[in-house]
Amino acid sequence: MKTGIALVGFMGTGKTAAGRLLAARLNKDFIELDEEIEKAAGKTIAAIFRDSGEARFREFETEAVKKIAVKKNTVIACGGGVVLKDDNVNYLKQECIIVNLAAEPADILKRVSRGKNRRPLLDVPDKESRIRELLEYRRPFYERAADFTVDTSGFDTEGVVEKIIGVLGNHENYD
Ligand code: S3P
Repeated sequence: MKTGIALVGFMGTGKTAAGRLLAARLNKDFIELDEEIEKAAGKTIAAIFRDSGEARFREFETEAVKKIAVKKNTVIACGGGVVLKDDNVNYLKQECIIVNLAAEPADILKRVSRGKNRRPLLDVPDKESRIRELLEYRRPFYERAADFTVDTSGFDTEGVVEKIIGVLGNHENYD
């Protein structure tokens, strides 16, 4: 049986907000993967991309996943690119049910236009086209990695968390 939940999905689908509330509701620990990467690297995600490039960032990401994925009773909010590497997904599957949060490009655009600058991949003039391109490429990765997908369109954090808890309750591998 699995005691953890990993939230995956594109940038700006609300993984962090939903993960924090989900952990509180289920009485589990909460970990944000991007924060762990920043702690391990001793610099911000934007600085890692700037100084060492995306490939180095992905190495930090895999190191963080490997370390965190063994923890029990934890909700992990993953960065949007975690599903691109099979190793990451396999590490997460050890202890976690994987939930994909899906959202429409327009909602994603709204969300990523505010908040912290942790998204160098969207640091381009035409954010909307970039979101559509990346989303199209990545959608199969999210779907393949996930035990189930929750559509967040039109739902606030509370509503998304209720949906996740509802599906988890019926999940045969979830404890
Ligand atoms: C990334 C998503 C970001 C962060 C980094 C790369 C991605 O996390 O890990 O900028 O490749 O989708 P969020 O999904 O939390 O924004």
